[in-house]
Amino acid sequence: MQRLIVDTDLGIDDALALLYLFASAEAQIDAITTVHGNVPVDIATANIFEVLSVAGVETLPEVASGSAEPLSGSRVHATHVHGEDGLGGWTARGRVALGRLSEHSASELIVRLARQSPGEITLLLIGPATNAALALRDDPAGFRALARIVMMGGAVFEPGNVTSTAEFNVYADPEAAKEVISSGVTLTMVGLDVTRRVSLTREVLEGELGGRRDARAEFLRCVARQGFSFYKNISGWEGFYLHDPLAAAVALDRSLVQCRRMKVDIETTGELTRGMTVAERRPWIQGGENAEVCVEVDAAKFLGLFTEPVLRG
Ligand code: BDR
Ligand code: CA
Repeated sequence: MQRLIVDTDLGIDDALALLYLFASAEAQIDAITTVHGNVPVDIATANIFEVLSVAGVETLPEVASGSAEPLSGSRVHATHVHGEDGLGGWTARGRVALGRLSEHSASELIVRLARQSPGEITLLLIGPATNAALALRDDPAGFRALARIVMMGGAVFEPGNVTSTAEFNVYADPEAAKEVISSGVTLTMVGLDVTRRVSLTREVLEGELGGRRDARAEFLRCVARQGFSFYKNISGWEGFYLHDPLAAAVALDRSLVQCRRMKVDIETTGELTRGMTVAERRPWIQGGENAEVCVEVDAAKFLGLFTEPVLRG
């Protein structure tokens, strides 16, 4: 059983990651924290309760709202990818009521839980790293009581998805990502190098759902339709990448990926390269390795693990 804090900017693939984790017997979600990113933080927080409702979760994890802004620079959202509500328009039919929120902010809750259970909790970052960086700044020792960080973010060998060099979660708060990567906590970077190898297509979705019309099936169709339409417009492909679900799966099962220990840093000042993941790729330069970068993924195994519990419910 893996204990987790999931820090999310709750868009379409974040929702699928949470459905996957709630369906897994391997995951114990101690808390869900929200951050600006795909959508403004208030919408991300409200979306948690939509996903909890769809997932039919009875014992609610602690939910804390986090940072509305990056450490510096302007906010970047991705509503053109995820929809104005982050869920492809799901909430147009009415929102579920907001549940109880933690009295702690996201960053406070991260270090509080880490201190309560040193070495036991994995922080799964599937949005910009702002909350994690604030937690690290406020209580470095508490932050280092985390067992591990699994971060969906970055692109070492692949091009970016916001600019030619930057992946979204890092681009939306490069200073935060830079601080968190060098925090000293064991960090696994699940970047575009592997997440672009796992996707969901309309054909697979409809095949798995069959003719089902229950709320979960309709939710899946709604968030997936948003992903399909974004990629269809830019490339003609009716599919979308399972970035955050793969990071969630890696948090539970490290054997899904092969990693390379590397020295990783983030460019924060480049006019053309702000948010770029800069990893030491010269094999003859050794030292300073601070992250394990996922470079290979067993995509078939991941899709096998993901499809049954998430799509068949
Ligand atoms: C990441 O950015 C967001 O759009 C996704 O939810 C994912 O976390 C992919 O670059
Ligand atoms: Ca995300």
